[in-house]
This record gives sequence, C-alpha cells and structure tokens, in this order.
Amino acid sequence: MSRRAAEIIFRSLIMDKNFDVIVIGSGPGGYVAAIRAAQLGLKTACVESKKTLGGTCLNVGCIPSKSLLNASEMYHKAQKEFKILGIETGEVKLNLGKMMANKQKSVLTLTKGIEFLFKKNKITHLKGKGSILDKNTVLIKDDSNKKNTFKTKNIIIATGSVASSLPGIKIDENIVVSSTGALSFDKVPKNLIVIGGGYIGLELSSVWKRLGSNVTVIENLDHIIPGMDKDISSEFFKILSKQGISFKLDSKVTSVTPLKGKAIVDFTNNKTSKRERTECDKVLIAVGRKSNISEDISKLGIKLNNNKKIKVNEKLQTSIKNIYAIGDVIDQGPMLAHKAEEEGIAVAEIIAGQAGHVNYEVIPAVIYTSPEVAMVGKTEEHLKKENIKYKVGKFPFLANSRAKVNNETEGFVKVIVEEKSDKVLGVSMISSVAGTMIAELALAMEFGASAEDIARTCHAHPTHSEAVKEAAMAVDKRPIHF
Ligand code: NAI
Repeated sequence: MSRRAAEIIFRSLIMDKNFDVIVIGSGPGGYVAAIRAAQLGLKTACVESKKTLGGTCLNVGCIPSKSLLNASEMYHKAQKEFKILGIETGEVKLNLGKMMANKQKSVLTLTKGIEFLFKKNKITHLKGKGSILDKNTVLIKDDSNKKNTFKTKNIIIATGSVASSLPGIKIDENIVVSSTGALSFDKVPKNLIVIGGGYIGLELSSVWKRLGSNVTVIENLDHIIPGMDKDISSEFFKILSKQGISFKLDSKVTSVTPLKGKAIVDFTNNKTSKRERTECDKVLIAVGRKSNISEDISKLGIKLNNNKKIKVNEKLQTSIKNIYAIGDVIDQGPMLAHKAEEEGIAVAEIIAGQAGHVNYEVIPAVIYTSPEVAMVGKTEEHLKKENIKYKVGKFPFLANSRAKVNNETEGFVKVIVEEKSDKVLGVSMISSVAGTMIAELALAMEFGASAEDIARTCHAHPTHSEAVKEAAMAVDKRPIHF
C-alpha cells in the first residue's frame, strides 16, 4: 500500500470517529433525531445495544402489540360477528404460533426499514452499549466486550424506559411477565391476572381475552385509565366489562408468589381492607415504566428530578449544555412514542441552530383496544383543577349512521371548549376508529380552532368523523342527529 493510500485510510478512520451528533438509543425518539440531524447536514451516529434498531416501540412495544391486537380482533370477529353479517365459515381455529410469527415478521420488516433509512441518510450505526465518558466522548462496548471511543460535538440521550415492578415482586418473563413476556406467550393462559388498568394492562387484557383467557385486571385506583376523562373512563369500564374482562378496582396487590408453574396473587381492597387471594397461570405487571438511566449519566452529574427522570430545559438540554435528552428518559410530557418523535425532530433542529419546538399541550394519546380510546388536550378534571370555565359538547356513536351500519355504536365524542372564546381545549372519544380520528382534533387545536370552526367544516358522509362535527355543534346545543 502506498503511503498516500495509507494516509487516506488513516484519515477516514479518524474522521469516522468524529461526529457532530451521537444519539444514544434508536427508539422512536433516537432514530428520528438521527434522521432529522442527518437531513440538516450534521454528521450523525446512532448507538444501539440491541441486535435490531427501533427500541422498545418497534421490537417489544407499540408494533408487536398492535399486530396482536389486530389479529386477535379478526379472530374474535370471525368467531362472534361474521354470522351476524351473513358470513358463514367452518370452525374458526386459533394458530397462536402463526399469529406470533406474523407479528415477528412485521417487527423485522419495520426494524429493517430503519436500517435502510440510516443508510439512505448516511447515518453511522454504532453497534454496542454506549456510555458517555465526558461531554464530547462516547464509549461503545460491543458484544465481544471490544471498546471503542468516539468524539462528538453533541450527544442526544434517547435511552427510553423499562417496565416498573412492585416492591418484592420479581418479573421473570415466564410466569410473572412485563409487556415483553405477555407479547410472546407460547400458549393461551387459562387464567391471566393483569396488575394495572392503564394502557398496557388494558391493551394486553383485550388481546388475551379475545384469544380465550379468563382475564382479571387488578387496579389500585377506583377507576381505570387514570389521566383520561372520567366520563370516558367509566364508559370504557362498562364496555370492557361487557366484553368479559373482570375488574378488581380500588385494590392493591401485596404479593405475587410463583408456585409450581403458576402464581398466587394477594391483594387488598383499599376501602374495606378485605384481603383476597387468587391463583393464575400468568401475571402481567403493567404498573408503569421508569426512565432508563445508566450509571454514566449519574456519574457525569447530569441533573435528575425527584422522579429519577432527566431534567431538561425548553431546548431539551440537560444540565450539561451540549448533552440533550428526549423521550421517556426526560421529565417532560407523557411516555409516548410520538411525543419522543416530536422531540427527536425538535432537538436535531435546535442543534442545527433552528427553532425546534414541541407543543406539549397537543400530544394525542390512544389506547388501541376495540373500541379505541383517544384524547388530546385537557379533560374536564384538568380544567376544574385549573379553574378554567368551559362548555362541553357530546355526541354518541349510536346516532352516527356509519357506526350504526358497521355495528360499532359504542362510545361518544366529547369536545371541551373555553366558555367565552369557544376555543377547543380538549377532545376525548371512544370509537372503533378513535385513534385515527383524533388527528383531526390535534390539527384543529394546533391551529387554535373553535368548536364553531369544526362545526362549520364539511365532514364526509357517511363517516365516523361526522360525530366530531356533531359534538362540536352540541357545544352550542344544536346537533342535528341527536
Ligand atoms: P400506566 O401508567 O398507563 O398504568 C399503570 C396503572 O397501574 C395505573 O392505572 C396505576 O394506577 C396502576 N397501578 C400502579 N400500582 C398498582 C398496584 N400496586 N396495584 C394495582 N394497580 C396499580 O402504565 P402502563 O400501562 O404500564 O404503561 C406504561 C407506559 O407505556 C405508559 O406511560 C403509556 O403511556 C405507555 N404505553 C402507551 C401505549 C399507547 O400509546 N397505546 C401502549 C402501551 C404503553
């Protein structure tokens, strides 16, 4: 090799170890930040310790759960609803192995998609566990324990979150599982206990109930889906109970004891102090998630808030100026994939000197059960606390023609506006397509729409969306079909 060629190779090696931005973590926050940074001309690398890109969302969260929710709903419909529609089939059988393989195929396709996007945007994919040595140095330890250091002008921490458990209860991902285990059972558990009536608990309760499990949800509070509108919560509770999911509300789990391939769950009613014990095949712990903070972050002195999440300013900077943090790991906004994506775009733009910004007032939230639950903005409970005067418009799907012909009449749309200005402050809904419809309301709120703006917008007939228009009209007590 000539001296010149050796010099070029040496220089390119040196170059490859110097970046404008290194993103740690390739979930929806991290990979989106990396792509946006690369689009803006920044030399970008993204570190990932797992074999595939995409983080919790793509590998063991949003994507596989939606695959199982979709497949189990089809199974349920084929079993229970086809006959009503005049569709006659032979016996409908479950092949759980195939259902899981289909789920895995979707996961693989999507994680490969990110690999493709990284190549297309010339993002360096650094494989291994990344840790921050100092404010400009990231150390990567690969599977074979080989260490490599990389220099960077900026670091984005996007390390996400991990499942929380309860004191004294160990998740073994076999009998006592987190969502990861509950997305991969190799047979349908006869009896499934779900601890926590939040997003994960209710989505996975739906999956396994439809596939044949007896499901009991034990929830500490006196209502499910805390944080959502109380009207929505109580209606959703009735719908899920009608679907056959059992609930133990106001009940605190005190212990879970694995015993001979099963588990014993003890819980106490918060009001009556009555103690109960139940045996089951599997226990899903779905009591929230905690930020994934590694040792290096604490050692570096990056400030955390009391809830052990990273404290950031409006520019998503941590207490060390050129180290940014986004997604589940920070103490800002809900732990949702699309919130992390927004922050990923904003942080890359901020680093590139642009005015990246996230509007935390307008982050939609969706529970992908059947029917779906969705909300954006404030609930009545929020507004009462904040002493803001408001008006409400409600419209039931029972009076929506499309929902009626589809036999999807459960649920309603609830629009809340500021009393004087009519400005939309929040919308909550239960509908078979709530997760898709909520986008219209997020857009309306971003543009500062009033209920009157929505009411005067032509909505196609017959669609579920007409219920949104009617709920907006109901604010002024003039819905047409109710
Ligand atoms: P969550 O915060 O939604 O719900 C946890 C529930 O557990 C709460 O209702 C809480 O009151 C209850 N709980 C806590 N301690 C308990 C105890 N000792 N006994 C009984 N109940 C107890 O948390 P979840 O469902 O684990 O989800 C974690 C995160 O993942 C959430 O922040 C959520 O935003 C996100 N996620 C979002 C999804 C979506 O967007 N569709 C789907 C899945 C997860």
